[in-house]
Amino acid sequence: MTEKKVGIIGVGMTKFGEHWDMSYRDLVIGAGTKAIMDAGIEGKDINEIYVGSMSPGTLIGQEHIGALVADYVGLVGIGATRVEAACASGGLALRQAYLSVKSGRNDIVVAGGAEKMTDVPTPQAAVSLAGAGDEEWEAFNGATFPALYALMAQRHIYEYGTTLEQISEVSVKSHYNASLNPTAQFRFKVTLEQVMNSAPVAMPLRLLHCSPITDGAATIILASEEKTRELTDNPVWICASALSTDTLALHDRESLSRTDAAVIAGRNAYAQAGITQEDIDFAEVHDCFSIAEIMAIEALGFCDFGEGGKITENGETGIDGRIPINTSGGLKAKGHPVGATGIAQAIEVALQLRGEAGERQVKDAEIGLTHNVGGSGATCAVHIFSR
Ligand code: COA
Repeated sequence: MTEKKVGIIGVGMTKFGEHWDMSYRDLVIGAGTKAIMDAGIEGKDINEIYVGSMSPGTLIGQEHIGALVADYVGLVGIGATRVEAACASGGLALRQAYLSVKSGRNDIVVAGGAEKMTDVPTPQAAVSLAGAGDEEWEAFNGATFPALYALMAQRHIYEYGTTLEQISEVSVKSHYNASLNPTAQFRFKVTLEQVMNSAPVAMPLRLLHCSPITDGAATIILASEEKTRELTDNPVWICASALSTDTLALHDRESLSRTDAAVIAGRNAYAQAGITQEDIDFAEVHDCFSIAEIMAIEALGFCDFGEGGKITENGETGIDGRIPINTSGGLKAKGHPVGATGIAQAIEVALQLRGEAGERQVKDAEIGLTHNVGGSGATCAVHIFSR
C-alpha cells in the first residue's frame, strides 16, 4: 500500500470542567456529534474509530470503551479500538487513526478521547492517575503525580537556577489564554502573587501550578487526501506523527530535569515533516504541572535546556510572542480529562490553522505542533500540522 497524505476534516469537543449533570455517554455523544457536523459527513461514512481513555474502570466502573463508544454514537458494527497510554491516550489514539488513513487502509477514521474524572473524590482520582507511574517503586510508596513533578521541579531549580516566579508565569499565561477560550475549565485570570501564594500541594508546586481533575471529551475526524479535498476547502494536514518512550520510574532516568522521550519524539517529528523547530509557529504542550511546560519547550528545542523559565518570563511564549505555547489555556487552565487531552490539543492546533481561534488567534499561523505526555514522561507523542 502506498502512503497517503492525511487531513483533518472535522473537530468537536465538549466544554472541559466538572460535568456532574453529564455521563460519559453524554460527553462522547456531545463531542462526536459536533465533529461529524463540522466534517459535513454522515456516521455511515466513517470506517473505523480509535478512542483514548486512561482509567474509566477505576473512575466510573466502565471498561470495554471501544465498543461502547461505537454503540453510543450509533455506529454498532464498525471497528472500534480503545487506546491507553496514561495521559497520552488521546495522542496515541490520534496516531493510530493517522496510521490507519496514511497506510491507505481507510478513508475516514475517527480519533476520540474521553474521561469522566470528577465522579470520585480527588484522593481516589490521584490513586488512579498514580498507576501511570511505576507501581512497585513509585505509586506503592505514595508518590502521586504532583509529588513526581515536584521532584522534577526541584531538580530543574537546582541545576538551572529556574525560579518559582518563572514557573508561576506559566500559570499566569495559561489562565489568561483560557480566559479567551470558551471550552476551557477555568476562564479566570490569575496574578503572579495569587499563583505564588496558592495552597501548597507538593512543594514547590502549589494549587495554581497543577492541572485540575476534569470531565470532557474531544473528537477529530481524519481523512485521506482525496476525501479531505472533496469535503473541505480549509484543510489542515498532519505532516508528522512520532512516538517515543522512557523508563516509567523517575529514578531510572539519566536526568530528572529533562524529558528524553520528548527530545526523541520531537527530533523524529521534525525529520518526518522535513522541517526544524524554527519552522514551528506555535505549540500545544503537556503542562500537567507548570514545570512540565518549561521542560517541554526545552525538549522540543524552542530554547536551550535551562532557558525555558527565562523565555516564559520575558513573554516569548505568549499569544503574540516568538513561539506561542498553549493558546488554549493548556492542561493547567483548559483542563485535563486525561484521555481527551491529546485530541483537544490537536483541535486547538486545527482551529488556529483554520484561522478560527477567535481572540486567541496566532497571527499567520502556518505550522503547529502538539506534545502529549503519559505519566512523568514515559510516553511522548509529537504531531506536526500544517495549513
Ligand atoms: N487549579 C486551579 N483551581 C483549582 C485546581 C487547579 N488545578 N484544582 C481545583 N481547583 C479549585 C476548584 O475549582 C475549587 O474551587 P472553588 O472552591 O472555588 O469551587 C477549589 O480549588 C477546591 O477544589 P477541589 O476539587 O476540592 O481541589 P482538590 O484539593 O481536591 O484538588 C489538586 C486539587 C491540585 C490536588 C487536584 O486538582 C489534582 O490532583 N491535580 C493534579 C491532577 C493530575 O495529577 N493529573 C495527571 C497529571 S500527569
